[in-house]
Amino acid sequence: MINAAIGSLVMSAFSMGALANKSHVTGRAAQLFRIIARQMTGMVTATKPVMTLISAKSAADAINDRFLDPGLDAKDWLRRWEVECREIYACRQDIIDAVQISDGATIADVGSGTGLFVEPFSKAVGKKGKVYALDISAQFVAHIGKRAKSEGLANVEAILSKEDSTELDKNSVDVAFVCDVYHHFEYHEAMLKSIRDALRPGGYLVVVDFERIPGKSRPWVLGHVRAGKSQFTSEIVEAGFSAPEEVVIPSFRESYFLRFQKR
Ligand SMILES: C[S@@+](CC[C@H](N)C(=O)[O-])C[C@H]1O[C@@H](n2cnc3c(N)ncnc32)[C@H](O)[C@@H]1O
Repeated sequence: MINAAIGSLVMSAFSMGALANKSHVTGRAAQLFRIIARQMTGMVTATKPVMTLISAKSAADAINDRFLDPGLDAKDWLRRWEVECREIYACRQDIIDAVQISDGATIADVGSGTGLFVEPFSKAVGKKGKVYALDISAQFVAHIGKRAKSEGLANVEAILSKEDSTELDKNSVDVAFVCDVYHHFEYHEAMLKSIRDALRPGGYLVVVDFERIPGKSRPWVLGHVRAGKSQFTSEIVEAGFSAPEEVVIPSFRESYFLRFQKR
C-alpha cells in the first residue's frame, strides 16, 4: 500500500518534470510543472526505499530557477558576471589560454550565460571552426544570438539545451567547456553522458569551478556549491573520462581548472 503510494508519487513527479521539459510547454506553465515536480521529488527523497530511483538529481534544489524564469533580463546578469570583481571575468584571458584551442576546432561552451567566452572562442577557432554556445535559459540563448550577430561572429551557434542534455550531435565537438556551470548541473550523470557522447574520440572536457573547502571557502561558496573538486572529479572519471590534468592558474584565488579526456 505504502509502496504503491510512493510509486505513484514518483511517477507523478517524473510526469510533471517531463511535461515541463516538453518544447510546447513554455513560460509560466513549464515553470509551474517544474516547481510541482520538485516539490514531489522533495517528498519522495524523504522516503528511503525509493532513494535510488531519483539519485540522478544532484545540485541544490532550484539552483537554476532564476535562469529558467521567462522574465530573466540578460543585462542584469551582464552586470553581475562581466565585471572585474568576478574572478572568472578578471582571469578570463588566463582561462582562454589554458583551454588551448586549435584553429579549426569545434568547442561547446556548455552553460554560456551572457556569453563571456563566446567572442574569444570564436576568434580562437577561426573561420573553419565552430562555437556552440549552449544554455538552458531561452533568454541567454537569444542574447548570445544577438551578441554574435552584432559582433559578426558567423561561426557561433546559440543553442537552447536542456537540464539533462546538451542537445548536441554525437561526436561533434573537440572541447566541451564547463565554466562555473558544473555545480549547476541538476542531473550531472545525464549531462556528463550527453557531453561525453557529443565529444569526438579523444576530445576534452574542461571544468572550471569553485574550490569548496569547509573552513576556508566563503560561506556563499559553501552554501551554493554542492561539493568540492575531488567529488566532482570522481563523478567525471566515473562517467568515462581520464584522470584530470590540473592547470594551475596563478591568478586564481578561489577557482580551479581541470582538463579531462574522453576515454
Ligand atoms: C554561473 S553561470 C556561468 C555562465 C558562464 N559560463 C560564465 O562563466 O560566465 C551558470 C550558467 O549555467 C547554465 N546552466 C545550468 N545548468 C545547465 C545545464 N544543464 N546545461 C546548460 N547550461 C546550464 C545557467 O543557465 C547559467 O547560465
